Amino acid sequence: MAGNITFTMIKPDAVAKNNIGPILSMINKAGFKIKAMKYTQMSKAQAETFYGVHSERPFFGELVQFMTSGPIVAAILEKDNAVEDFRKLIGATDPSKADEGTIRKAFAESIQNNAVHGSDSDENAQIEGGLHFSFYERF
Ligand code: CMP
Repeated sequence: MAGNITFTMIKPDAVAKNNIGPILSMINKAGFKIKAMKYTQMSKAQAETFYGVHSERPFFGELVQFMTSGPIVAAILEKDNAVEDFRKLIGATDPSKADEGTIRKAFAESIQNNAVHGSDSDENAQIEGGLHFSFYERF
């Protein structure tokens, strides 16, 4: 059964361009409820852990550097079928392939600086949410 929780980050590129508000507006309009939210900056160790699954990829070092280059907004979102519906809302990883109306089409700069993260499975949504939020930070 599909879960009802996903995890997102508004990435440093989108934060630097003052796009937190418009992105949150698209998330709310699409029917996602905010269960937890934090404005923070990841350490190198946190980013390496978060993206550990990509540690062997050639872009890993640059990805960690980018994700620690400035503040992010981390959030847990709730909606029926959250993971799949959120991935539709954000669009393809590569913004040149993202559909019209998606967050990445509107705000992403490149395949790396792609404005937002969205969990790729229910299991990862739980793991990723757990890396950023305690039980007491969820509402
Ligand atoms: P995200 O959805 O957060 O998951 C992994 C991230 O790695 C991805 O978004 C991009 O920011 C980055 N990424 C994925 N593929 C590439 C690539 N080919 N080159 C550089 N960065 C990438």
